[in-house]
Amino acid sequence: MYSGIYPGSFDPVTYGHIDIIKRAAAVMDHLIVAVLKNNGKTPLFSVDERVNMLKEVTKDLKNVEIMSFSGLLVNFAKEHGVKVIVRGLRAVTDFEYELLMSQTNRVMDPDIDTIFFTTDLEYAYLSSSIVREIASYGGDISKFVPECIQKQIKDKLSK
Ligand code: PNS
Repeated sequence: MYSGIYPGSFDPVTYGHIDIIKRAAAVMDHLIVAVLKNNGKTPLFSVDERVNMLKEVTKDLKNVEIMSFSGLLVNFAKEHGVKVIVRGLRAVTDFEYELLMSQTNRVMDPDIDTIFFTTDLEYAYLSSSIVREIASYGGDISKFVPECIQKQIKDKLSK
C-alpha cells in the first residue's frame, strides 16, 4: 500500500491545504494528515479543534485520515509505517525551509523521502497566518477557507 503523511500546523486549514490533500489523496492509497501539537507557536485553535476542522473538510475523502502528533515527524512516520512525507510548495520563498526540513528528515531517517506538490496558482499567495490576520480585522475570508471554517474562525475571534 502506498501511503503518505501530510504534516502541518493547519491553524486553520485553508483551501490551499485542501487542494494539496485532494491531489495527494488522488495518487496514494492512504494519506495521513498530521497536525502538529507542539510547534512552539501559540496557535489560534487547539489541536483538537484543528483535527476536527480537517475531519469536516475531508469527510468525503475516504482514504484520508486525520491525526495529531508531537515530537519528531520522522518518528511519527516510522510508528505508522509511512516513508513518504507530502508538502506543498507555494513560491520560491518556501523552498529554503522545505529543502532544509526534507534534508534534515532524511539525515535522521534515510528511509524517508519528501514529495512536493506545487500549489495551484489560485492559492499561491494563501497562508493560515494571512487568513488569521484578515479575519482579526473583520475582513472577508470567504475566498480562503470553506464556510464551516469561516464560522469557527469568527466564533473564536469573537471570544
Ligand atoms: O505547517 P507548518 O507549520 O509549516 O508545518 C511544519 C511541520 C509541522 C511540518 C514541521 O514543523 C515539523 O515536521 N515539525 C515536527 C518536528 C520535527 O520533526 N522537526 C524536524 C524537521 S526539520
